Amino acid sequence: MATMAVETKTKPTDPRTGLQAKDRVKIAKALETVLADTYTLLVKTHVYHWNVVGPLFLPVHHLTEEHYNDLFKAADLIAERIRALGKPAPVSFEALLPKASVDEEASNRSARGMVQQLISDHENIVVSLREAALACEEADDLVTTDLLTQRMAFHEKAVWMLRATAGD
Ligand SMILES: [Fe+2]
Repeated sequence: MATMAVETKTKPTDPRTGLQAKDRVKIAKALETVLADTYTLLVKTHVYHWNVVGPLFLPVHHLTEEHYNDLFKAADLIAERIRALGKPAPVSFEALLPKASVDEEASNRSARGMVQQLISDHENIVVSLREAALACEEADDLVTTDLLTQRMAFHEKAVWMLRATAGD
């Protein structure tokens, strides 16, 4: 399989914001995974919003609506940060999806199963966000660190609210 050369040299059109060219490449790549995870979880959350049944219907239906709205807004901020780093945003969902660390499968049929799956996805995303945030801080990219920290806060709160909804 052909591999694409990674451009790490500064070009005249690159943003001159004090970040190293090689760091902008690495950070944009990490943000692609964050974006892929955000979209994958957005779709899964929406699917569960539609299909949930049983006694937990109303709280799960409402909470998932709150969450997919947040995830949609976040996807825009993440993609725009990739652009601000001087890199192109992904051009298709097909290209983006394989970069996700969470599974797209939304096959749970019970409300508890859906909630457990969402908890697990939010937890996994926080773990990879923390790793990415620390790498950004190391590269002096405080703006991306701040964005990723805010995303961690959202996902950690989501874990708490989903657990509370399930009565765990
Ligand atoms: Fe709805």
